[in-house]
Amino acid sequence: LAGMFSSSPAMSDFAEDSAPARPLTILFGSQTGNAESVAKQAAKKANVQGFQTTVFDMEAYPKENLAAEQNLLIITSTYGEGEPPDNAMELHAFLLSDAAPKLENVHFSVLGLGDSNYPDFNECAKQFDVRLAELGAQRMHDGVYCDVDFDDDFEAWLTGTLAAAGDVTATTSSATQSQTVAPVAVEAPAGHSRKNPFPAKLLSNYNLNKVGSAKETRHVEICLEGSGLEYEAGDALGVFPVNCTDLVEELLALTGFDGEEAVPGMDGAEVALRLALAEHYDITNLSKLFLANLAPFSNHEKLNKLLADGNGNIDEYIKGRQIIDPLVDFPGKWSSAAEFIDMFKKLAPRLYSISSSPKAHPGHVHLTVGAVRYETHGRSRKGVCSTFLADLPAGTPVRVYVHPNKHFKPPADPNRPMIMVGPGTGIAPFRAFLEERHAVDAPGKNWLFFGDQKSAFDFLYEDQLNELKEAEKLHRLDLAFSRDSAEKFYVQHLMIQQGEELFTWLEEGGHFYVCGDASRMAKDVDAALHEIVKTVGRKTEEEAAAYIDDLRKQKRYVRDVY
Ligand code: 2AM
Repeated sequence: LAGMFSSSPAMSDFAEDSAPARPLTILFGSQTGNAESVAKQAAKKANVQGFQTTVFDMEAYPKENLAAEQNLLIITSTYGEGEPPDNAMELHAFLLSDAAPKLENVHFSVLGLGDSNYPDFNECAKQFDVRLAELGAQRMHDGVYCDVDFDDDFEAWLTGTLAAAGDVTATTSSATQSQTVAPVAVEAPAGHSRKNPFPAKLLSNYNLNKVGSAKETRHVEICLEGSGLEYEAGDALGVFPVNCTDLVEELLALTGFDGEEAVPGMDGAEVALRLALAEHYDITNLSKLFLANLAPFSNHEKLNKLLADGNGNIDEYIKGRQIIDPLVDFPGKWSSAAEFIDMFKKLAPRLYSISSSPKAHPGHVHLTVGAVRYETHGRSRKGVCSTFLADLPAGTPVRVYVHPNKHFKPPADPNRPMIMVGPGTGIAPFRAFLEERHAVDAPGKNWLFFGDQKSAFDFLYEDQLNELKEAEKLHRLDLAFSRDSAEKFYVQHLMIQQGEELFTWLEEGGHFYVCGDASRMAKDVDAALHEIVKTVGRKTEEEAAAYIDDLRKQKRYVRDVY
């Protein structure tokens, strides 16, 4: 029953109850596991209120049941530029297609989990909401689109939605009860996917920054031969990390368990606690939910206070800390390893923009990964997947799958000019685009804006870019090294300097791409683009905005930002 969680502990009670059974189906679309844990929390509460709840991973949901649903809750995050998470892709595409059924008997409510730092905030959730209504389903509660700190909005949405679902059920249950479809067993999808990642071999792994750099950017090459996996320039690779061994041992030492205890793993099957901590659960990301889960086991006065006071002290505590910190600060006692592991979320794969073209490197895939290492609260910390990859010796297996990114592709017309802005690891997909255009001998002009801290240490792929330039496969290469001079100099400053030419390329039908940091860089680059269209194109603010909006609609302004 992969992906299906029957969440109805007291199901048999309902049969004897005089109140009608109140079916509720919750579908989650989750990239990092947040939406999944929220869906399960929602199910718990719904069951307490007498609903008979079934939770499905969207990928495992039998679509033919849709029209017969009575109360349908959609809980989904949004990935990248308004795209569905991996496991929501198929259902999303199906619902938006002409094959989608009429849903007149369905009552629904949508919860979106998002981050307002990203463009297209909660886009995927909003699309589900609009489309379900278009298909005739009845919105029993307005969609709620949460920002990063979602606890309160989630609570309000759930309370409102369950109240509405209760009313709906009271009036319609006798008519529709018999239509409630029993959960159907779902086969694991064929081929390699997020659900069934390929154990690929790491071929090589080296630092692209030179000695003396403040950064560590790894070039990682992975072999896909024999996997059946295929990708295109612009796609991303999903990577399942393994947690740091030292951290796993430190956690075990804090619990008093020896690590051999059997606990449920990622797919429900039992694994040893040590393996579960290493490969199945997120043992770093600290959230309010984790602290709330910990509280009953540690029963520590300070923790209880943090959770109760509502003054933002808890956010202050979480800042810069990870799961290990409260386990040290508020020691706990668990009666079983299963009880301990139940506090954790499942470990989610990480997505990296692929930095190779399959035409240039058949059977192989390259990544450009910024290794994250820092220190906070007297402890050294590291990014789970970036350092897993950075420290992985060649020859080691790594579990991967391909995450297609259909909007982020070189221009379909090989004659069109292509402008790419990709500072830091944002260069990844553009290395792939350049390799791709080179491989197919695309005649269109290519322009890359790259930036990083120092030219002496941080000019990623310097030799390859210079070769492409000499071969006239890269027509313009503009570089912004922010720390070569006293004054910060960024890619957007270069764009403004080159505004005339940039606008000309756009007028020639050029495509404009941005990859990298979402919260600062992509925003500033967007502002620079508006400025250029306004001043060079002699337009008003509104006309410039409309021009850029039009580029976006034509898919000539696309971003891969994180
Ligand atoms: P900095 O680290 O000197 O601030 C890749 O990380 C490059 O992006 C670095 O040179 C970094 O500069 C730069 N960068 C940081 N903030 C930026 C912003 N708002 N816009 C563009 N580039 C930025």
